[in-house]
Amino acid sequence: MVMKMNKEKILAILRDNSDYVSGQKLAEELSVSRNTVWKYIKALQDEGYEIKSQTNRGYRLDKATGRLSRSELARNSGIDPERFLVFKEINSTNTYLKEHHEELEADTVVITDYQTGGRGRYGRTFYSPAGEGLYFSILFKGNVMPESEYLTMAAALAVSEVLKDYGLIPSIKWVNDIFVNDRKLCGILTEGELELESGRIKYLVLGIGINVNNIAFPEELAEIATSMKLSSGSSFDINEVGARMISSVDQYTRKLIRTPDSEEVYLANAADLIQKYNDRLLYKGETVTLSGGNREEITGTLLGTDAKGHLLLETSVGIKSAAYGEYQLNKQKFSK
Ligand code: BTN
Repeated sequence: MVMKMNKEKILAILRDNSDYVSGQKLAEELSVSRNTVWKYIKALQDEGYEIKSQTNRGYRLDKATGRLSRSELARNSGIDPERFLVFKEINSTNTYLKEHHEELEADTVVITDYQTGGRGRYGRTFYSPAGEGLYFSILFKGNVMPESEYLTMAAALAVSEVLKDYGLIPSIKWVNDIFVNDRKLCGILTEGELELESGRIKYLVLGIGINVNNIAFPEELAEIATSMKLSSGSSFDINEVGARMISSVDQYTRKLIRTPDSEEVYLANAADLIQKYNDRLLYKGETVTLSGGNREEITGTLLGTDAKGHLLLETSVGIKSAAYGEYQLNKQKFSK
């Protein structure tokens, strides 16, 4: 217990100082010997905190390379630490929640910086290397759940808003990808289970993968993926990014809770979501080709989405709407 408290105190001091803090100063603050300070530092380094030590200068925390920690996430977000399940490594945060949805509380967040089996839409894999990105899933269940039809869109907007606050210029590629500088930086996968007898949704899992400090990607992604670091030139504190992303997703998804008492507010929030989402839509006004699943390809001008979030394309035979699929920019201009 004392060890834990003292480690947290050291972290707090190092966090508040961008420069080195001497071992002597830390020893005085904690009323322990310098040797004990060194032991705490060693324990923190073993937990994954990148703490540099320099003779005659002391210790300095390199925030950008710290590992994910429940207390840091809670501290940065103000969210109850009990909500977080932090894994050093996991197959897939979405799969974990799907397998454990019965026993876990609503709103549980499973989060990691390393997935060995990250999944994307259409059975694809989602590249999730250790210590470079952020991969988390939130469980929705019970009587008060956000409406599923807008969940992915709300999450995309929530992530985009945080990216914007970090100085990036994100666009949303309907329905679940976030692009910066024409490359994918974040993917979202919403899954759930429908109870057939009642038509009720038993639970929903909202999974978000963000490339944070990656400096390179495997060959097949090199031309199409980016990270916060690659697109800004700076490194990011993974716990701070995680906390801000989760708070933002909470805020946006809460607005989608629909009860008989909140019908009017819900409808206004949904309309607001659609408008903001459309303002960020990638390739709006350009010619795109929509494909995916078993659908036949549709080529047309991307108009945006309708009030339900379905994609609208103006084609040579009129406006077509699509509830699912993926579009690509059509290099050859479409002519009516
Ligand atoms: C996509 O690009 O098609 C969606 C990618 C979704 C990735 C996230 S990472 C956290 C969660 N766990 C997964 O296995 N997938 C989602």
